[in-house]
Amino acid sequence: MCAKPLKKEPRQVETTGHQWDGIEEWNNPLPRWWVWVFYATIVWGIGYTIAYPAWPLIERATPGLLGQNTRADVAAEIAAVDAANAATKEKLIATDLNAIGADPELAGYAERAGAAVFRTNCAQCHGSGAAGFEGKGYPNLLDDDWLWGGTMEDIHLTVTHGIRTNDDSRYSMMPAFGLDELLDETQIAQVTEHVLAISGQEHDAAASAAGATIYADNCAACHLEDGKGDRAQGAPNLTDAIWLYGGSREKIIETVTKARFGVMPNWNTRLSEDEIRAVAFYVHGRGGGE
Ligand code: HEC
Ligand code: HEC
Repeated sequence: MCAKPLKKEPRQVETTGHQWDGIEEWNNPLPRWWVWVFYATIVWGIGYTIAYPAWPLIERATPGLLGQNTRADVAAEIAAVDAANAATKEKLIATDLNAIGADPELAGYAERAGAAVFRTNCAQCHGSGAAGFEGKGYPNLLDDDWLWGGTMEDIHLTVTHGIRTNDDSRYSMMPAFGLDELLDETQIAQVTEHVLAISGQEHDAAASAAGATIYADNCAACHLEDGKGDRAQGAPNLTDAIWLYGGSREKIIETVTKARFGVMPNWNTRLSEDEIRAVAFYVHGRGGGE
């Protein structure tokens, strides 16, 4: 409701001639300032499309007179960062693997660069915190249980050459005892009871005694007499509670029947030497490094 009574303004403006129920439509001109701002935006818009990349063509957009290019900007920024780090990278490559930690500046760089390399290249298999995925074949890199060894040299070699790629620095193959008919089902069941026994789990004593002989003949060459494993062959320790593929009766039978052939890609064709060193340093520093 309007408090004030409506005053009838004297009419100065023309009407459009439209009328609805006595209401007329006025034909007011647009405010001057508004019109000028409107023209200015058009001029600005045309200028902008001439100066900057704008109109999409088939291959790429019109480049613009100023030659601005965000892709080139990023490339230049990356090149600048690379140049700033070049000396540190050279030093990282030249420094003995075990001496990196003694140089605080170098160690700080390796830790940060290694963490970045790990997030991008390793986390999908070893987990973002490097704890691996137990039972799925992706080892925990935080513990002191190493398949191939946990010194800086060992980790560096593993990362460089990968595991069971066509490079034989880290190559070993457990036979598929069941599929290849090296052992029958009863023998596999017996040797499995032996593995349960040496890993301190509930087992059948009679079957495990028979399994001990089968173990000595078929498994000790790689997992060693005492079952503690052999890092030269990447053969895991079977006596602890840490399992790459699972330590239940079913899982062990599955491993012995089919074998697993866990593969890690080699990184020497994907990462530069300074990146490999940085990530080895990072992994070594996570707690389990020797
Ligand atoms: C595609 C999956 C995958 C990716 C990606 C991957 N790994 Fe692995 N990694 C594995 C597997 C599988 C093993 C265990 C292989 C075996 O059975 O010996 C392994 C083992 C290792 C080992 C040996 C652990 C031990 O106990 O000796 C190290 C060290 C390692 N990885 C580091 C890395 C680093 C560093 C990266 C990133 C640059 C990386 N991995 C990326 C799958 C992967
Ligand atoms: C030629 C060497 C070799 C022989 C012989 C061998 N193994 Fe293995 N074993 C390995 C390797 C290497 C691995 C790791 C495989 C992988 O990561 O793909 C492994 C893995 C295992 C695992 C999985 C351990 C885990 O942490 O999940 C079990 C269980 C096992 N072996 C039991 C046996 C038994 C039982 C025999 C004898 C019947 C045997 N192995 C014979 C090399 C061998």
